[in-house]
Amino acid sequence: MTRLHSSLSLAAGVALVALAAGGLQSTANAASSSATAALQSADPKVSGTVVFTQEGSGVHVVADVAGAKPGLHGFHLHENGVCTAPDYKSAGGHWNPGHAPHACMPVDPRHAGDLGNITVGSEGTGHLDVVLTGVSVAGANSVIGKAVVLHGGEDDCKSQPSGNAGDRVACGVVKASTMEH
Ligand code: CU
Ligand code: ZN
Repeated sequence: MTRLHSSLSLAAGVALVALAAGGLQSTANAASSSATAALQSADPKVSGTVVFTQEGSGVHVVADVAGAKPGLHGFHLHENGVCTAPDYKSAGGHWNPGHAPHACMPVDPRHAGDLGNITVGSEGTGHLDVVLTGVSVAGANSVIGKAVVLHGGEDDCKSQPSGNAGDRVACGVVKASTMEH
C-alpha cells in the first residue's frame, strides 16, 4: 500500500513538473514574439521606432521615423547591437548570416538585414511596412540584438557591400518587447 502510494505521488510530481515547464515555455514564447528598436540620432530632430512581430515564418517590420531629410533613406539591420554616436560605425556591416550579396527586397538572395529604403516626405516623416523572410523574432536568425540603421542617403540596391547609402544618421538596438497585459 505504501509502495503504491509513493509511486502515485511520484507520477503526480512528474506531471506537475511537466505542467510547470510547459507553462514557462509558453510564457517565454509569448514574451519574445515581438521586439522593438527606438532610434537615437546625433541630430536631435531625428527620431523613430521600429516594431518587429513574428508572423508565421516571417517577421513583420513596421518603422516610423520623424525629423529626417525628405527623400529616400537606406534602412537596414546591422550586425552589432551597439549604437555609438555620432557615426554609429559601432553597428558594423549589414546583418548577413547567409553570406549573400547586398540587394533590396524582394530580390533574393540578399542580406537578412536589407530592408531597402524608407521614403521620407516633405513633413520629415517616413513609414515602412514590410515582412522580412528567413529571420525570426526569437528563434533562428533572431533580429534581437541587431541594430536598425537609418542612412542619410538612398540605398541604390546594388553597390557592394552596403548600397552606398551614405552616413548613418540614426541607430537603434533591437530588444525583446516586455509582455503587456
Ligand atoms: Cu545600413
Ligand atoms: Zn545589405
